[in-house]
Amino acid sequence: MRDLLWTFFVYPIYFLKLIMVELNTLQKHPPLLAIQLQIWGYYFLFYPFLRHTYEKVKSGQDLSELVYGETPISSFQKIIKDLPLSENDRFVDLGCGKGMLAMYMAQVHGIPATGIDIIPTFIKKATQLANRYRIHRAEFKKAPILEADLTKVTIVYLAWTCLTHETRTQLIEKLATELPDGAIVITTTYPLQDPRFTKMGSQTVQFSWSPGTVFMAKLGQT
Ligand SMILES: C[S@@+](CC[C@H](N)C(=O)[O-])C[C@H]1O[C@@H](n2cnc3c(N)ncnc32)[C@H](O)[C@@H]1O
Repeated sequence: MRDLLWTFFVYPIYFLKLIMVELNTLQKHPPLLAIQLQIWGYYFLFYPFLRHTYEKVKSGQDLSELVYGETPISSFQKIIKDLPLSENDRFVDLGCGKGMLAMYMAQVHGIPATGIDIIPTFIKKATQLANRYRIHRAEFKKAPILEADLTKVTIVYLAWTCLTHETRTQLIEKLATELPDGAIVITTTYPLQDPRFTKMGSQTVQFSWSPGTVFMAKLGQT
C-alpha cells in the first residue's frame, strides 16, 4: 500500500516539484537552462527506452549497475556549497549520465570538468551540447568508470547507489591509489569507508528517484 501511494501519488508530486525547483535554479544560468531543456526534449522525444536498453546490453556491464537516476543541479549546489572551489580544481563525474553536473562545474565555476559514462548516446549528446554552448571546459568520454584517469582530479562525484559491493570495493582502491592527496570524493547512499580517507560529513538532498544521503571524504589524514 505504501509503495502504491509513493508511485502513484507522492512521487509524481515530488518529481514535478523537483522540475520546478530545477527550472528556477537554472534560469540564473541561461546556457545551462537551454542545455537542460534540450536534454529533456531530446531524451523524451528521440531516445526510446528500447535504445537505452540496447546500449546498456551492448556495454557488457552488469545491467543492475546501469539503472538511471539524476542529481538535480539544485541539490548539487547544496552538496558543494562549503567546498573551497578554485580554477585549479579538476572535477570528474564517474557515471555522468546526461552530463549536467560537469556542464555546471565548467560553466559556473570555471573548473575543467570531465563526465565519464558507458552509454554512448549520453556522451555524444553531452559533447554536442557543450560544443554548441561553448562550454569548453567540459568534456565527455565514453569509458568504463574503472578505466578513468584520475591522476589530476581534485573533486570526484560518484553516484554509486546502484553499483555492486564488488565494484565499489574496486573503485575505492582506484580512488585511493590514483587520486592526488587531498582530493575530495562525494558519494551517494554509501559512505566511502577506507582508512586512507578522512570523513568530511554527510547531508540529505533530493535526487530524481527520492531524497537520499550524500557523503564527502578527503584522501589523506588532514
Ligand atoms: C545514477 S546515474 C548518475 C548520473 C549523474 N552522475 C548524476 O548524478 O546526475 C549513474 C550513471 O553511471 C553510469 N554507469 C554505471 N556503471 C558504469 C560503468 N561501469 N562505467 C561507466 N558508466 C557507468 C550509468 O550509465 C549512469 O548513467
